[in-house]
Amino acid sequence: MKFHSKDISLAKKLDADDPLKSFRGEFVITEEKTIYLNGNSLGRLPLKTQSNLNQVVNKQWGERLVRNWNEGWYDLPSKVGAKIAKIIGAQEDEVIIADSTSINLYKLVLAALQYNRERKTIVSDEFNFPSDLYVIQGIIKQLQKDHNLVIVKSNDGITIDSENINMAINSETALLTLSHACFKSAFLYDMERITKLAHDSDTLMLWDLSHSVGVVDIDLNKSNVDMAIGCTYKYLNGGPGAPAFIYVRKDLQDKLNPSISGWFGDSSPFEFNLEYSASEGIKKFLTGTPPIVSLSAIDSSIDLILDAGIENIRFKSIKLTEYLIFLISNILLPLEFKIGSPLDENFRGSHISIRHPEAFKIVKAMTDEKNNIVVIPDFREPDNIRLGLSPLYTTFEELWHTVNRIEEIVLTKEYQKYQEIKSVVT
Ligand SMILES: Cc1ncc(COP(=O)(O)O)c(C=O)c1O
Repeated sequence: MKFHSKDISLAKKLDADDPLKSFRGEFVITEEKTIYLNGNSLGRLPLKTQSNLNQVVNKQWGERLVRNWNEGWYDLPSKVGAKIAKIIGAQEDEVIIADSTSINLYKLVLAALQYNRERKTIVSDEFNFPSDLYVIQGIIKQLQKDHNLVIVKSNDGITIDSENINMAINSETALLTLSHACFKSAFLYDMERITKLAHDSDTLMLWDLSHSVGVVDIDLNKSNVDMAIGCTYKYLNGGPGAPAFIYVRKDLQDKLNPSISGWFGDSSPFEFNLEYSASEGIKKFLTGTPPIVSLSAIDSSIDLILDAGIENIRFKSIKLTEYLIFLISNILLPLEFKIGSPLDENFRGSHISIRHPEAFKIVKAMTDEKNNIVVIPDFREPDNIRLGLSPLYTTFEELWHTVNRIEEIVLTKEYQKYQEIKSVVT
């Protein structure tokens, strides 16, 4: 995609021609001066979800009370899982909503190690989300059976060469687990190719889809993926702390066993038997009582993605990232910025990282609510400003204002008046 003008008129034209432009009106947007580029961390609130939650809280909880468990709540994890299945190329009985991403990873890593009992190595990479690595490290400690974690390194700080993955996998590898889109650089793996590499060594493959679900056209079945997990509060707009999803390919569902055998994964939880007996299929990966309010939020938010169509969303995401890279290359690279994301759209998710020695203070200036334009990205150590583009509500004009605002902050040295004091959440 080639762009030829840094003028705002091009941004306005791109917005006018955008087939998804009407979706912005489906979200709660209270401050027009605020440019929200953090949908890769916490997505905006859809209007439909605002009214749905009102109805869930006031009608279902307020009036129907416990009766509502038999009026839709009990099946909600499967119902929402089936909707997510549609945007990740899975069958509806291969996906369910449960727990957090970290807990789902714990369940599946242990299940994989039990399945591939003779093998002691888990392979991941240095771009995986740290929580994923922590969970694996904890499991290795807990098992005390000489398992080890091999962390594949990047050659360039932005991408991972598939040959490095290939070299790390061997007949000792029980599991390969990676983030499909990496949280810092947005590097996007070739899912089909990497899954095949794992399978060539009889290694199980587990993808963390947190940074690609809802914004990349994923096809788990076509890529023959064994297991996957992912967050719902980013591009799926499920709300803060919304529960995660878990996918296990159908033919593996009776071979892999959940390592937390809670009552919602039991075949008949309301018989209150004293012996656990796992449900059939994906349901056995449930643990305890589902968080119904959050689940209901995902249920309605995901409809916007289904209405827009994941291929259209991916198309716009690529156009947004390409346009942003064009502006950054022309305006910010002369100001000591570096692009910390892949330039090849086929290997890039939906955020762009830019790196600068003063990144933290620049973010402070961008987010300062006293200014006329407020831009909300996030900061990731040591020097990354992550600009998350959410195609259902991010506009090209917002990107134009963002880059011009960053230029102003650096040229005027406005960032120097901010101090390097970090909040708990960056
Ligand atoms: C790629 C990735 N994996 C896992 C997690 C952790 O998710 P949770 O807090 O649901 O365990 C995150 C959180 O942002 C993430 O970005």
